[in-house]
Amino acid sequence: MIFDLKDLKPAEKQYYLQHVVAPRPICFASTIDKNGNVNLSPFSFFNLFSANPPVLVFSSARRGRDNTTKHTLQNVIDVPEVVVNIVTYDMIHQTSLASCEYPEGTNEFVKVGFTEEPATIIKPPMVKESKVKMECRVLEIKPLGNEGGAGNLIICEILRLHLDDALLDENMKMDQRKLNHVARLGGDWYCVVNESNLFHVLKPITELGIGVDALPENIRISKILSGNNLGQLANVKEMPVIDTAFDDNHLKQIIQYYSVSPEEMERELHVYAKKLLGEGKVKEAWQVLLSGA
Ligand SMILES: Cc1cc2nc3c(=O)[nH]c(=O)nc-3n(C[C@H](O)[C@H](O)[C@H](O)COP(=O)(O)O)c2cc1C
Repeated sequence: MIFDLKDLKPAEKQYYLQHVVAPRPICFASTIDKNGNVNLSPFSFFNLFSANPPVLVFSSARRGRDNTTKHTLQNVIDVPEVVVNIVTYDMIHQTSLASCEYPEGTNEFVKVGFTEEPATIIKPPMVKESKVKMECRVLEIKPLGNEGGAGNLIICEILRLHLDDALLDENMKMDQRKLNHVARLGGDWYCVVNESNLFHVLKPITELGIGVDALPENIRISKILSGNNLGQLANVKEMPVIDTAFDDNHLKQIIQYYSVSPEEMERELHVYAKKLLGEGKVKEAWQVLLSGA
């Protein structure tokens, strides 16, 4: 199916795009109106766009229903300051409740049961229960359209980052497993980042990786090795060569057992290399593949 966005109804655009551009982190924005009334609302059209200067952006959309704008937008026009609180799994139901369209002047901290903690350099309060809070100054507000569903980019400079000490080790390093971020997807779907779904991808080597196009053809067109496997193998500075010191019993067995059938041997070597790549053992996988060359 191919969709031309101009042929979709506004609700359909929102529906498909929110499912596919996902997961999106959640900015839980605390602002104040011109009379000092506090507001707290979640926004998942949100991300970090620059580290230096430190800039994040979230978007408060015009309502599809009646094209009205939201309190958060008016607040940052009147008082260009916002605390962006990061939402973790233990906060998600209260956060969702805060998205109810309570009347102007309603303090969602009170409504959903979060605790106000004074910020240190701006006026809107922080959410005490959040493990990560960013005090921000609004740099610019950029409307993206005049119709229902149109976003208004709220571009913010991050002035001060508050991190729960429990997230840092003795060397001031963060452990991604400890945060339990929550993110929004399409419809009612959310996801949580925890140990069961986190994994590492080695950074591309600083010297250029040889690239998939430089892999030997039998590896490149392998029916067993996946695109991910090829990506791992191609992330080496130069084509590896056979290491005569490489000693592996399973490899020896394959070579011995399948010596009469080169095709079957190649298949078995690829199966074994794939297993090693799954365990992150790229060097070993290369040796296995080279031994069949
Ligand atoms: C997890 C979550 C993410 C949301 N993301 C957005 C968003 O990115 N932009 C938006 O305009 N509304 C978003 N909403 C809806 C607003 O939170 C909702 O309209 C809220 O009432 C706005 O409050 P305000 O009028 O006090 O600013 C989201 C709601 C939830 C629950």
